[in-house]
Amino acid sequence: MVDLSVRIAGVDFPNPVIAASGTYGNGECYTELYPISKLGGISCKGMTIEPKLGNPPPRIAETPSGVLNSVGLQNIGVHGFIEYYLPTLKEEGNVIIANVAGATVDDYIAAAEALDASDVDMIELNISCPNVKAGGATWGVTPEGAAEVTKAVRRATAKPLIVKLTPNVTDITVIAKAVEAEGADALSMINTLLGMRIDIRTRRPILKNNMGGLSGPAVFPVAVRMVRQCYKAVQIPIIGMGGISTWEDAIEMMLAGAAAVQMGTAIFKDPCAPLKVVDGIADFMEQNGIKSLSEIVGQCQEW
Ligand SMILES: Cc1cc2nc3c(=O)[nH]c(=O)nc-3n(C[C@H](O)[C@H](O)[C@H](O)COP(=O)(O)O)c2cc1C
Repeated sequence: MVDLSVRIAGVDFPNPVIAASGTYGNGECYTELYPISKLGGISCKGMTIEPKLGNPPPRIAETPSGVLNSVGLQNIGVHGFIEYYLPTLKEEGNVIIANVAGATVDDYIAAAEALDASDVDMIELNISCPNVKAGGATWGVTPEGAAEVTKAVRRATAKPLIVKLTPNVTDITVIAKAVEAEGADALSMINTLLGMRIDIRTRRPILKNNMGGLSGPAVFPVAVRMVRQCYKAVQIPIIGMGGISTWEDAIEMMLAGAAAVQMGTAIFKDPCAPLKVVDGIADFMEQNGIKSLSEIVGQCQEW
């Protein structure tokens, strides 16, 4: 029997496959398909202190090997999440991760304080949203912005804190080190890559928001590269994501340095994809005499 369990920031996951934020709702659409406890964990839809309607449609555009989205954080708000979704999630799921976004530091603090008093297992800080005081620049593209929000949330909660990095930077290790220094317990990466599509007949962008975030198989090599760079730069564990569709992708991401993985876009194509990845990892370990995931994590032998 292989051991699929993994411990990240003191939290025990029964297996290393987690649903990625924004691609699994709050689990509600999947409970009829299979027990959601089969996943290692669920990163819930990104939430803000106040409810948000999100961006006007169209907010999804297809690409040859992925999806461009500009959903704009449509969500019920932190208090709504705690009241309506969290009780069922805690009853039916394994590790429940609250993914948090904000336009100001005070927004993040208010959300973290409310979640601190709740039953969520971990908080994942989405620092890919605009900082209104910095003229709308994304928090996570400068070490100062990333550090500021991490520091504030670290003070506001004792919950294990994951900081989710944006790939839209020149050197992601600088950001990783900045959030580690401010008390992040783990990193998750990558969020989506900024992209754009244009309808050649109307000459208008396909997304009403003009630009959006690219995810899916197209971003996988970028994600593997960034996870590897951060694995070598920080001591804290990394949850790797970006284009993982198969168990082979998950093993590759772990070899790069991810202690666990998240899957997002692949779930749109096959809601059962994460379960197939769990089984595939177990079979691979069994066939190769690997007893624990620690024998894989970070074990890429670079030339
Ligand atoms: C439709 C959609 C909505 C998303 N919403 C969020 C979100 O609310 N918070 C967040 O941190 N990431 C969000 N993401 C990013 C994913 O969690 C993930 O980082 C990204 O899609 C890369 O993984 P994937 O290629 O497996 O989808 C969203 C992605 C998609 C496609």
